[in-house]
Amino acid sequence: MVILSIDTSCDETACAITEGRRVLSNVIYSQVLIHKKWGGVVPSLAKRAHEERIDFVVEEAVRKSKLGSQAFKHIDYIAVTQGPGLAMALEVGMKKATELALKYDKKIIPVNHLEGHIYSSHVQNSKGNPKREFSFPCLALIISGSHTDIVLMKDHITYEILGEKIDDAAGEALDKAARMLGFGYPGGAVIERLAQEVKNIDTYHFPRPMLHSKNLQFSFSGLKTSLFYFLKKMPEKEKVDKIKLVASSFQEAVFDTIIKKTEDAMKQTGIKNIIVGGGVIANKYLRNKFRRLIKKHKGSILFPPYPYLTGDNAAMIGVAAHYKAEKRIFVENFDTFDRLPRFPLTT
Ligand code: KG4
Ligand code: ZN
Repeated sequence: MVILSIDTSCDETACAITEGRRVLSNVIYSQVLIHKKWGGVVPSLAKRAHEERIDFVVEEAVRKSKLGSQAFKHIDYIAVTQGPGLAMALEVGMKKATELALKYDKKIIPVNHLEGHIYSSHVQNSKGNPKREFSFPCLALIISGSHTDIVLMKDHITYEILGEKIDDAAGEALDKAARMLGFGYPGGAVIERLAQEVKNIDTYHFPRPMLHSKNLQFSFSGLKTSLFYFLKKMPEKEKVDKIKLVASSFQEAVFDTIIKKTEDAMKQTGIKNIIVGGGVIANKYLRNKFRRLIKKHKGSILFPPYPYLTGDNAAMIGVAAHYKAEKRIFVENFDTFDRLPRFPLTT
């Protein structure tokens, strides 16, 4: 089954062609430089950049797939992210998907961006590697700039949300901390580098949000506020000297919370197979923390196998779409096919 997939949910214009789990081509046109000077993604600028680039990105994905001049004869379905994401950004990809579906007489598979992040660990390169499988039941974690979720999966495309963020997401907390420390957007990778330079030491012991409650919800906004007041009290000179220690301590508070909540979820469900997706799992220190947790409980863990799969991309959308097509989940009426900026992860 060959699928052309599109994701324009945030600040990457992305198109991929996949066959089953294999990626035949994958094109990502990042807008990060456009949004950087504003300190975050500006929806109207994102929309315009998606509109300017979508045709090029789709054409490149088709060309790189080597399906030839009759590529759409080999493509079975069009998949597209319907949400969650920025409404103005989502609509660009959905419009393009609908246009292609009408032109080439294809069905559309609607995909939730979060199931894309879950399936990013299931994506294979063009040669079909890596060959590992999901083993159900499992706990899927999505740790991104806009989400922090723990999801129970008993089979493909079945989701039960056990815990989610109630305010800021983990990546958002890292981005806001980076900004408070004087760095630009996105900030997760900067914090990782600063922390690594002081060997990830936890000097300041920032509060671990929601750690004492039994539920699996995440809240990082209190942590952000405590960093704000901490920095306010700190003399300017000391800030310069201690910036790496502050970054490292903040990162530790975020990651410690994620790991402890994951451990709680493992204990509560008895499930030891974990899948992790989302931009924050690009962080090598966090991967090591997860590996230690899994070793302690003799479980198994899957991360996105290639670096591009941690951030937003359409390959993960195409692979999730493959399983949705097997379940015959298609858009029934193109006229009422609308973006869902708050699309919940439902089965
Ligand atoms: O999944 P993603 O690309 O977009 C969303 O769907 O939200 O995630 C972006 C998030 C940003 O908050 C960014 O700071 C974070 O992922 N991120 C990282 C790293 N690289 C990106 N966080 C920690 N360490 C990294 N190396
Ligand atoms: Zn994402």
